[in-house]
Amino acid sequence: MAGCRSWLLCLTVCAVSLLETNAEIKVTIPVGKLFTFELLRETFQNDFEPLSKLFAGRLYDDPVMFFKCNQKNFPDLPEWLRFTQRHPYDNGFLYGTPTAPGKTIIEIYAINKRSYEAARHILVIKATAEEMLPYQAEFFLKLREIEKVLPSSVQDEIKHDLQKLWDTEELEIINITNALDRGGRVPLPLAGHFEGVYVKVASKQYFSDCLLRVLTTEHEQQCTAGSKVKVPGECNFCSIPSNCITWCKTELFDLTKQATAPPAPPLGSGILEDGGDFNPPESPPSRDFFPDYIVTVIVPLILAIILCLLLAYIMFGRREGVTKRNAKTDQIQLYHHHTIHGNTDELRNMAGLRSSAPPLSTLPMFNSRTLDRAPLLRSDSPSIPLIMAQHDPYSDTLPRK
Ligand SMILES: *[C@@H]1O[C@H](CO)[C@@H](O)[C@H](O)[C@H]1NC(C)=O
Repeated sequence: MAGCRSWLLCLTVCAVSLLETNAEIKVTIPVGKLFTFELLRETFQNDFEPLSKLFAGRLYDDPVMFFKCNQKNFPDLPEWLRFTQRHPYDNGFLYGTPTAPGKTIIEIYAINKRSYEAARHILVIKATAEEMLPYQAEFFLKLREIEKVLPSSVQDEIKHDLQKLWDTEELEIINITNALDRGGRVPLPLAGHFEGVYVKVASKQYFSDCLLRVLTTEHEQQCTAGSKVKVPGECNFCSIPSNCITWCKTELFDLTKQATAPPAPPLGSGILEDGGDFNPPESPPSRDFFPDYIVTVIVPLILAIILCLLLAYIMFGRREGVTKRNAKTDQIQLYHHHTIHGNTDELRNMAGLRSSAPPLSTLPMFNSRTLDRAPLLRSDSPSIPLIMAQHDPYSDTLPRK
């Protein structure tokens, strides 16, 4: 029975892996426009199903699902593509703006954390070259989080508001960024605190008057002063409060002005012109170093010799007087030494006399209960043991004399 089941398992796994390799999605997108791809949990859940059916009755209807995405044969995603999934019960998103045309193969692994099933999908992104739209503007939505903005319905809402603000239908979202990726701070985990999202749009049409307000000095002053920016009613187009833009963080980019790049330097033939023979520069006039030598070597040497002679004269030439005085000091020291010796002897003698009848309590090893005492020893004798024999005065087992 068990063998049969593992056999069945193997068969199913093989079938699944066959299925997996076939799960390939192809998309073609223009360069410079925002690309969003939602990783739907249901799609991957279908891949898990054959295994789940095997363990009938243990079908989890809401698997804890994680996604792992990377460019094929690379450890991570390409630079322009980002992945986000807030919670294992939410869908994931791949989003970003391709910067160069070309084909990118993305591997998407979905892992069910409960049953350890995995599914692999392949996403082939083909980016085609397209002209850049010249007028671009970036808006900051303070009350948004990246996952809430990426679903296409929300993108359309935001685009709709901005179309009215720009006063044109020809508007494209070209980039959406999490404010945290641009140095934003993680918000407090409280209601009403959001990470914030940057939305960049572009159009062929020049900015509307409402947008050009951003460039006025009056607007700048209001923003630097931190006061609330007064936006005239006809420029306030946000229909949903969370889609309202932060005016002070709005930036306009006019690519037609930046397009005048400095002209490239003219290219030569690659061969240097013949400049004739090498002509070495004249060597500088020779210099006399003798005065320098005298100042730096001879003068200090003479000074050193003079000092040496002076020192020698003080040490040897005037020694006689010094010697006489020294002899006297020696005599005094000798006398001192002699008297110290004598005094010590005298003290030793006196101490020896005193030891004839010392008080009992001052003797070592005096037992106050039995009045026993160790045989009298000269305390300065080198043969005195540091610890006397270990007689326990309180034990009666030992025979006593
Ligand atoms: C989109 O925004 C991100 C983050 O600011 C930036 O790194 C990237 O270069 C932008 N892409 C384009 C095409 O502007």
